[in-house]
Amino acid sequence: MYLRCSVSLAALAVLFSVAAVDGAVSTAGLQSTQCVSSSNSSDIYATKSTVKYATGFTIAYHNTYKVVENKTTNSTYVLYQCGSAKPSSVKDVSAYIPVPVNSSAAWATSAAIFLEALGVQNTVKNLGTAPSLVSACLQELLQDVITPFNDGNSTDTDHQEQSNDVVFNMPGGEDTNTTNTVYSTEYLESSALGRSEWVKFFGAFFNAEERANKLFDAIDTNYQCFASKADKEYNDIRPVIAWTSYAGPTQYNNNTAYWQISFADYKYDIVRDAGARMLNTTGKQSTMFSTSQAFLRALKDVDIIIDESFVSYNYSALMKNYGIADVKQATNYSWVATGRVFRPDRVQSTSGGLGWFEAPVAFADALLQDLVGVAHPKFAKDGYKPIWFRNLAKSDPVTVVTASNCTDMYAQRQDPAGVCASIDFQSANPSDSDYSDVEQSRTQDLIYDVSKSEVVNDGSLSSSSSSNPISVGFFVYSALMVAIVIATL
Ligand SMILES: *[C@@H]1O[C@H](CO)[C@@H](O)[C@H](O)[C@H]1NC(C)=O
Ligand SMILES: *[C@@H]1O[C@H](CO)[C@@H](O)[C@H](O)[C@H]1NC(C)=O
Ligand SMILES: *[C@@H]1O[C@H](CO)[C@@H](O)[C@H](O)[C@H]1NC(C)=O
Ligand SMILES: *[C@@H]1O[C@H](CO)[C@@H](O)[C@H](O)[C@H]1NC(C)=O
Ligand SMILES: *[C@@H]1O[C@H](CO)[C@@H](O)[C@H](O)[C@H]1NC(C)=O
Ligand SMILES: *[C@@H]1O[C@H](CO)[C@@H](O)[C@H](O)[C@H]1NC(C)=O
Ligand SMILES: *[C@@H]1O[C@H](CO)[C@@H](O)[C@H](O)[C@H]1NC(C)=O
Ligand SMILES: *[C@@H]1O[C@H](CO)[C@@H](O)[C@H](O)[C@H]1NC(C)=O
Ligand SMILES: *[C@@H]1O[C@H](CO)[C@@H](O)[C@H](O)[C@H]1NC(C)=O
Ligand SMILES: *[C@@H]1O[C@H](CO)[C@@H](O)[C@H](O)[C@H]1NC(C)=O
Ligand SMILES: *[C@@H]1O[C@H](CO)[C@@H](O)[C@H](O)[C@H]1NC(C)=O
Repeated sequence: MYLRCSVSLAALAVLFSVAAVDGAVSTAGLQSTQCVSSSNSSDIYATKSTVKYATGFTIAYHNTYKVVENKTTNSTYVLYQCGSAKPSSVKDVSAYIPVPVNSSAAWATSAAIFLEALGVQNTVKNLGTAPSLVSACLQELLQDVITPFNDGNSTDTDHQEQSNDVVFNMPGGEDTNTTNTVYSTEYLESSALGRSEWVKFFGAFFNAEERANKLFDAIDTNYQCFASKADKEYNDIRPVIAWTSYAGPTQYNNNTAYWQISFADYKYDIVRDAGARMLNTTGKQSTMFSTSQAFLRALKDVDIIIDESFVSYNYSALMKNYGIADVKQATNYSWVATGRVFRPDRVQSTSGGLGWFEAPVAFADALLQDLVGVAHPKFAKDGYKPIWFRNLAKSDPVTVVTASNCTDMYAQRQDPAGVCASIDFQSANPSDSDYSDVEQSRTQDLIYDVSKSEVVNDGSLSSSSSSNPISVGFFVYSALMVAIVIATL
């Protein structure tokens, strides 16, 4: 299931001199930064985090320790203040982690970004997915502070893992066989806000509750503002969005190409909130097609395509892969006629890693803003250029991020979203070409259901199976990223 990354670290070779920023590490927003005496039994966590949307974890506070629980597996992490005795009363503990942690490691890109969003990247000693990381400051830290996991050598990797207070990983990830492994599963959440709320999970390990709460409250407020403004302006003119991908024939899929439409829960959630409608063909999480004809038929009434294929390509290559030989002949598809074909690959690292797998997870409001911009490009008076989405049909360029884009490597990463409250949302102009094929009669209809028979009659439709072939045969950025894609497609 996991492929080694073929992109060599050299690809990221230090092309740019390290900016002379030493960045003082701030302790503002951290609590109980000192170890306590073993006899101290007062409540040392004045600021607590409570979970509002996320379903994957809970945090319970005790005087000198916290218990983070996974209700699905009953795995239990005990985070106890350094200096205090390990609590003995908690049952079936998966890991005891002394906090605040001085040294941490993360295998997945999304975990790394949460640490950066908390401003605790000064504790990070090892990272997985290093060659594909897009974050400018993590790239800079990787040049001389953070060591990538040596994941070709398990002895070495184990040693690296054990030298940290905590190792963030995912179930089924590489080298989980250490006593300090902690699983995070933000990618399984069914809402974008639920994913971002995992900042509280990570924050607990650093006694950074205040930072986590403040950041998440701001994201939540800004998200709700975007959602309510989009609903107010665009409820009766919701374009239909489909998240699609193509996999070419390879040795991994029996040399049989297939096409896929993704139905991840969080996508329903965020598409609705962006003032659009999610294409729905089945109740399944993803749907595979073995012929492009069947695939295209399902896309008959779609207004906007978001292509997530694991290849980097241009508009003509995408059309060819989708079975459209002549774009001019295919204007019976609204998304072709209006040229609304996007990929979430605008922000990339030099080696082709996608920013899409990083900040949008932590910053749900920025993700929503981008999707509003895709669905309703003129929502802001002065126009809007999405951060992550790139319109292939309009040949939007890719933006490459390098270490030189980092201004302060230890600063808390800023939320890239605009301040919704100060954005004057523009009403939809139904005669605008962007809306030329968007139905305007389906007020309140938040999901677009393709007639089931239309698709199934082809006989080539199948729901995704457990042996998910999307994991292999693509241009692979990194093992963990693939795993995340599997989980979210
Ligand atoms: C317990 O630790 C907290 C946090 O370090 C400190 O503020 C408090 O004074 C300590 N209490 C006692 C009784 O030592
Ligand atoms: C909880 O357990 C489920 C089932 O194994 C797993 O998929 C998920 O990642 C776990 N969540 C956390 C927070 O560890
Ligand atoms: C988790 O714990 C509950 C209550 O102790 C038990 O009923 C359930 O079977 C456990 N689940 C797993 C996956 O171990
Ligand atoms: C972090 O480092 C300090 C200073 O060396 C030490 O006193 C403390 O115990 C360490 N904390 C943890 C969680 O190991
Ligand atoms: C793996 O790493 C260990 C410890 O650094 C080293 O001794 C060993 O030679 C390495 N093995 C290989 C196959 O490179
Ligand atoms: C896990 O680690 C323990 C202790 O280091 C070792 O005995 C065991 O063989 C390891 N298991 C696997 C599957 O690597
Ligand atoms: C692979 O493709 C060949 C030729 O189309 C077919 O005969 C065979 O059954 C396929 N194998 C599997 C495992 O699907
Ligand atoms: C999508 O369609 C299927 C089958 O028509 C239906 O069961 C399912 O509830 C729909 N999903 C949503 C989120 O409406
Ligand atoms: C759209 O037009 C093309 C070319 O004429 C045709 O092959 C295709 O079947 C049409 N698609 C739909 C959904 O009508
Ligand atoms: C588009 O990509 C294909 C495949 O990579 C390539 O052959 C073709 O030259 C590209 N076309 C343009 C206009 O860049
Ligand atoms: C990174 O810096 C380069 C050079 O200054 C600039 O052209 C580029 O737009 C920056 N990228 C981002 C994403 O800000």
